[in-house]
Amino acid sequence: MGYIMKRALITGITGQDGAYLTELLLSKKYEVHGIIRRASSFNTGRIDHIYQDPHEAKVNLFLHYGDLTDATGLLRILNEVKPHEVYNLGAQSHVRVSFDQPEYTADVVAMGTLRILEAIRDHQQFTGNEVRFYQACSSEMFGASPPPQDENTPFYPRSPYAVGKVAGFHFTRNYREAYGMFNVNGILFNHESPKRGETFVTRKITRALSRIKLGLQDYLYLGNLDAKRDWGYAGDYVEAMWLMLQQDKPEDYVVATGETWSVRDFLIEAATYLELDWEAVVKLDERFLRPTEVRELLGDASKAKNNLGWEPKVSFKELVGMMAEHDLELARQEKTLTDAGHNFTQLGRGE
Ligand code: NAP
Ligand code: GDD
Repeated sequence: MGYIMKRALITGITGQDGAYLTELLLSKKYEVHGIIRRASSFNTGRIDHIYQDPHEAKVNLFLHYGDLTDATGLLRILNEVKPHEVYNLGAQSHVRVSFDQPEYTADVVAMGTLRILEAIRDHQQFTGNEVRFYQACSSEMFGASPPPQDENTPFYPRSPYAVGKVAGFHFTRNYREAYGMFNVNGILFNHESPKRGETFVTRKITRALSRIKLGLQDYLYLGNLDAKRDWGYAGDYVEAMWLMLQQDKPEDYVVATGETWSVRDFLIEAATYLELDWEAVVKLDERFLRPTEVRELLGDASKAKNNLGWEPKVSFKELVGMMAEHDLELARQEKTLTDAGHNFTQLGRGE
């Protein structure tokens, strides 16, 4: 029998995880299809380095316009692509912003998951093709449940985002049980990288401290420094997503490092790397506090280790160093351009 090239469809391909997952699947010789949103400016910066113009080369990466709020569009893309695997990574993924935009967040995160599950159900029914489905769940679902958290820890969501993810979790499990679909929930703890969005706290810190180091910015404004998170490296975590879809049986998994650090710890580590006195430059801005906070996340990923053979490779210290080094280089480039008279206006915003 000839070799069958696997096809994957990724929602949220332009996000941090979408970019790493695309690199991983292309390295495994998949044909990768991604759903992108129409925007008035380019939003494909994280995947531009792997995208090739289909007019000029034989390519394995294809992009389709779509949105998790648009059910008919999702079904059309599924019928066109006929994927073997679907990774649902698309989301309004910022926890604090979900308090400002609760209804939109729930629409994308909860209803968006239901829409894509329905589209897969219809597609499978009409074509007979099995589609394996990965749902990007979150440690935020554990919220106020005390650490350590594993697959048996009760959910106690503390934000509209987290409530939406809990609904997505249950839709995914219910469709597995009701229709025998190969659906898995990956409950991933925080994971970061140089591709992390600049309004999440780790990247906000490495970006700002690097600019302060080079005299491009004076202060860094933050919210709660006492919150603790289990921070891993995104490049390691997309491997776990893929492994979950290669198993004989669809099951749900926690993915985490098993270590927890405070926001202050992250600040100290980044400032030490950059040789800065963080206490002289960090100020509190109450706008960055949340109406309900998640105090401490610490994951127990024993099941992923035993069943998937998955373990994190990059340590906390290596992660902070990797991000600080990357952002220091960005700041150097910015300084060169600024010294040459170029005017940057959009930096310094943050959530
Ligand atoms: P991210 O960088 O914020 O990327 C989110 C992606 O979703 C982007 O591609 C975004 O498109 C897309 N998107 C937003 N709204 C959409 C809509 N209405 N329809 C279709 N796509 C939409 O997030 P990430 O860090 O890569 O995380 C990936 C997934 O894992 C998310 O579902 C997130 O909630 C979840 N998660 C993340 C973590 C973490 O620590 N990173 C942990 C647990 C779970 P644009 O580029 O156009 O904005
Ligand atoms: N974003 C942000 N900005 N967070 C701050 C700031 C600030 O200025 N100051 C303190 N924090 C604190 C937040 O209150 C929170 O306790 C912690 O830093 C981490 O915030 P984020 O980096 O925004 O991440 P998150 O933990 O809320 O959510 C991320 O991880 C989840 C998994 O646990 C996101 O990636 C979610 O999409 C993901 O599900």
